[in-house]
Amino acid sequence: MGGPPLLSLPCRLLAVLLFLLCLQDFYKFDDIIVCSFAMVDQITEEKENALMPDISPSSAPQPFLPLLAPSPMATPFFNSSIPKLSGQCILNFSAVDSLISTTAVDCWTSFAPFLANVICCPQFQATLIILIGQSSKETGMLALDSTHANHCLSDIQQILGSQGANSDLQEICSVHPSNLSEGSCPVSDIDGFESVVDSSQLLTACGKVDPVNECCSKICQNAILEAARKLALRDGGLMTSMAINNTLIQHSSKIDSCRNIVLRWLSSRLDPSSAKQVLRRLSNCNVNGVCPLDFPDTKGVAKNCGNEIKNDTACCHAMENYVSHLQKQSFITNLQSLGCASLLGLKLQEMNVSTNIYSLCQISLKDFSLQVGTQESGCLLPSLPSDATFDPSSGISFTCDLNDNIAAPWPSASQASSSACNKLVYTLSVRIFQWFNLNFKSC
Ligand SMILES: *[C@@H]1O[C@H](CO)[C@@H](O)[C@H](O)[C@H]1NC(C)=O
Ligand SMILES: *[C@@H]1O[C@H](CO)[C@@H](O)[C@H](O)[C@H]1NC(C)=O
Ligand SMILES: *[C@@H]1O[C@H](CO)[C@@H](O)[C@H](O)[C@H]1NC(C)=O
Ligand SMILES: *[C@@H]1O[C@H](CO)[C@@H](O)[C@H](O)[C@H]1NC(C)=O
Ligand SMILES: *[C@@H]1O[C@H](CO)[C@@H](O)[C@H](O)[C@H]1NC(C)=O
Ligand SMILES: *[C@@H]1O[C@H](CO)[C@@H](O)[C@H](O)[C@H]1NC(C)=O
Repeated sequence: MGGPPLLSLPCRLLAVLLFLLCLQDFYKFDDIIVCSFAMVDQITEEKENALMPDISPSSAPQPFLPLLAPSPMATPFFNSSIPKLSGQCILNFSAVDSLISTTAVDCWTSFAPFLANVICCPQFQATLIILIGQSSKETGMLALDSTHANHCLSDIQQILGSQGANSDLQEICSVHPSNLSEGSCPVSDIDGFESVVDSSQLLTACGKVDPVNECCSKICQNAILEAARKLALRDGGLMTSMAINNTLIQHSSKIDSCRNIVLRWLSSRLDPSSAKQVLRRLSNCNVNGVCPLDFPDTKGVAKNCGNEIKNDTACCHAMENYVSHLQKQSFITNLQSLGCASLLGLKLQEMNVSTNIYSLCQISLKDFSLQVGTQESGCLLPSLPSDATFDPSSGISFTCDLNDNIAAPWPSASQASSSACNKLVYTLSVRIFQWFNLNFKSC
């Protein structure tokens, strides 16, 4: 992989455009990779198909001819519809309407599964928290009871869906009505909260969150945890009546529930857009620290690359085939790609692959991301990803780091695991990776 770019820049932009259009038809085509190759050019398609023996004839892509189709600019991408609301939800949706439109774009129908981990779900979850936080200013409550939770979750899905969001966000982001309730936190009203928690200290720590340093310094995260612990200890009774093993589990789930209460309180003290910024920066620390990809069995690679490598070509062929499975999953950030490269390297080492096959096979960080059509067009999101944007005439766009081919680092035994708490990595990635707006208009 790597090598000189196959496509000139304008052509690459075109490929990106085609890819994005193609994504919208994902459920029809069922294989974005092949689909986007099919569009870019026939020769590339044949070459790349050879690397992907797993494509069954039944999922063969239909030809996709966007260049012959009417210009997408001519027709609206989406017609908003009227949401069917329950009439039973007490939340004040109008207090967060701009947040809701942003969420609808971040979780746009066919994009949602690919942006779920980094952009869509963090934004959806932040919206739910802020919605309850803002409404608490009127109700005094930082949680919904189970009846209201059901209605409200259904209503917000309706509202988001009517603005173009995927209609299955609950499933995609594993959000349940219980996530809007107090869970097992013993405190759920503002007065109770403020009698337990030192609220000015919490606001000082979390009113502004440093996007780069927070993941390491944990100034706000620690303040939230401390507040959640205090709330969780509010009803001391549990300890005596429960078996020790259960108590610990229950206590930690209580702290989790209370953490949500803390976040909602915080969101009631900030304006919606500042609250959103704080919540997204906090969730970024978690997002960047975990590789979200599913790794298939590494047997095939181990067979060709393990122990003594007998045939470099066969080894790299197996490796490219393996990586192509990762490239169908999800957009990831540049920091996540480092984590994914490290995780896969360790898995392979466990299988006795001792040679640095990333170097042998020229695997780069971009090779871990969802591919846009050629290896040169992989999209790594920035480590501090911004929201997707929508323009009625040009559609959805979001920012990618189109970095040059940064070699994937092969993990060494002495190397500490890469984590989001690594200022150096942050600094480096911000410097190395170019920010690039994949906007239809650029074509
Ligand atoms: C939106 O409505 C217009 C007019 O009814 C129609 O021509 C267009 O195809 C619709 N667009 C979508 C994405 O459904
Ligand atoms: C809902 O929020 C809006 C904007 O913050 C505010 O003007 C309105 O009074 C609120 N509605 C209710 C019923 O409190
Ligand atoms: C919602 O709550 C369930 C447990 O009830 C939990 O497993 C899940 O992670 C929560 N989802 C979010 C987005 O917090
Ligand atoms: C944990 O508690 C349950 C009942 O509450 C009990 O059945 C189980 O044996 C306990 N497990 C251990 C490891 O003590
Ligand atoms: C190495 O593997 C490739 C592809 O599997 C094969 O075409 C080639 O003949 C092999 N070379 C040797 C020397 O075995
Ligand atoms: C790795 O190599 C060692 C020693 O050669 C062997 O005992 C072990 O079974 C191998 N592991 C795998 C997963 O092949």
